[in-house]
Parts: sequence; C-alpha cells; structure tokens
Amino acid sequence: MQLRLTINDQRHELEVEPHRPLADVIRTDAALTGTKVACGEGTCGSCTVLVDGRAVLSCLTLAVACDGADVRTVEGEDELLGRLQAAFTAEDAFQCGFCTPGQLLSAVALLRANPRPSSAEIRAGMSGNLCRCGAYPAIERAVARAAGEAR
Ligand code: FES
Ligand code: FES
Repeated sequence: MQLRLTINDQRHELEVEPHRPLADVIRTDAALTGTKVACGEGTCGSCTVLVDGRAVLSCLTLAVACDGADVRTVEGEDELLGRLQAAFTAEDAFQCGFCTPGQLLSAVALLRANPRPSSAEIRAGMSGNLCRCGAYPAIERAVARAAGEAR
C-alpha cells in the first residue's frame, strides 16, 4: 500500500505491506533507529512516538493507519524535546538508555498536555514506560526539571 508520512518534518512516500507496524517502518524504511522496540507487544513503552501530537505505541500501530500523519521521533528537532533531553542528562535519568527515547516522547506529550505536572501526575503520565534499569526517581526529577524550566 502507498503510505505518506511526515517524520520530523521530512516527507516520506513509501510502499509498505499492510501488516507492518509503524515502528518497523520508522526504523527500517526511514532509517531512524532512535525509536526502540523492546517487547514488541504494547507492554513497555520503549517504542513510543508522537503521531499528530499524540503519544502512541509504534509497535502496535499499523503504519498504513498513519497515512498522511505527522510523526515525531527522538531524532526530531523540538524545543521541548531538547529541554527534556538536557534534563535527562542533567539528572542522569538512564543507565542503558534503551527505554529513554520512549520516555522522552511520553514526557513531551505529558508536558504539552500539562505543563506544570505534580509528582503524582508525572508518575501517572509516565506509567506506560517501563525502565529495566530502574531509573524512575531520576526520570521523575528530569521531567520536573524540564517543566520547571518552562515556568
Ligand atoms: S516495544 Fe512497543 S510497547 Fe514495548
Ligand atoms: S535506562 Fe535501561 S531500561 Fe531504562
């Protein structure tokens, strides 16, 4: 099937099989390997990207269902994403880093919807993103730091 996607402001015209997940198309066809696939079944959040501003699990999303959509990945240029990346670095909010791209995109969606989240709101907003390294306290601090810098 023909598929038109704008990924990080770049237009892509692709031909894809209808069963292929968005994560696969982003990583393989668009060669943007920052989006990580861990569980591949909608459990961990590592594959989170923004589709028309909404955080979605790209391993569970059919690419053809996103025809015409605007997709944002961790490679994108975005002021809020950049601020979160700096905050994650400052707070040491990762160990292996495999979950980090998904954490960052979920945090972008969270702070766009709620620029001043409480600790409980940060934890709830990030609850779909698992971190096997257990960096949760630092991730929460990083999201709060990025939100604080916005205030
Ligand atoms: S890889 Fe998509 S939710 Fe785990
Ligand atoms: S930093 Fe390793 S899984 Fe989160």
